[in-house]
Amino acid sequence: MELPKEIAQAIGSQGYRVDSIGESGSEVRVYDRLVLKIQPPSGEAETEAVMARWLKGRLPVPSLWVYTVQNGFTYTLMSRVEGKMLCSMEYLNQPGLVIRLAADGIRQLWTVDVRDCPCRKSRLTERLKAAEYRVANGLVDIANTEPETFGPDGFQNPEELLAWLKTHRPEEDIVLTHGDCCLPNLFAKGNEISGFIDLGKAGPADRWQDIAIAIRSLQHNFDGTYTHGEKLFDFEPTMLTEALGIRFDEEKNRYYRLLDELF
Ligand SMILES: Nc1ncnc2c1ncn2[C@@H]1O[C@H](COP(=O)(O)OP(=O)(O)O)[C@@H](O)[C@H]1O
Ligand SMILES: [Mg+2]
Repeated sequence: MELPKEIAQAIGSQGYRVDSIGESGSEVRVYDRLVLKIQPPSGEAETEAVMARWLKGRLPVPSLWVYTVQNGFTYTLMSRVEGKMLCSMEYLNQPGLVIRLAADGIRQLWTVDVRDCPCRKSRLTERLKAAEYRVANGLVDIANTEPETFGPDGFQNPEELLAWLKTHRPEEDIVLTHGDCCLPNLFAKGNEISGFIDLGKAGPADRWQDIAIAIRSLQHNFDGTYTHGEKLFDFEPTMLTEALGIRFDEEKNRYYRLLDELF
């Protein structure tokens, strides 16, 4: 694949490691100091670039070097964030620290004033519209959902879940949200958050959008889902809400966790 000229110039002849390969040709290439994300065009690639620019100076985010569309792909060249993902073993072996860091990250997001935020697709009305499109076009991957969401004790299908989400909308308590606030998207160095990455769903939304995804991510990183069944720690959702200094909201936690099943 031929890279856009300004990107080829910026990286020169450096070698890279491919971090992840997604559907339809998306790829993340990690260089020594830079990261190149190649994706099919989508609102998310653009949001990621716009939010990386807007959040500069407000939160630790990658510096955007180049964002361009060529040959049917978007190319995002950005700085490589220092530190390690919160899902690295270094952090998972210190459960108290990783919970505190996740809470720190979420609280840092809350400090940002969203009034002039350029991205608005994160509000619930817009998310439900996007979910509707995904359901109508068969884009929901049921194999990639929690076992209890669909089936005998859950929803029959994505259509039924979408209908439930539309009729059970909780009131929104708006803050800046990351939108996919899972441990691989939060970086830390020592005892401090060093970067928020993967900003394609970021924008104003209810604070439980991030809390619910962070809880799910902490649960699955600790319960053995990603470590061949070896349980690392008995995580309870209230450990995160206590670190955040708020009460556990069972209804919103369930709602935003279910909403994410359609994405
Ligand atoms: N700016 C960055 N700095 C350091 N690592 C990154 C950066 N961007 C991506 N990565 C690495 O690549 C992984 C995948 O990139 P990400 O942007 O999260 O895409 P996706 O989750 O959609 O595949 C991340 O979890 C991280 O390990
Ligand atoms: Mg990611």
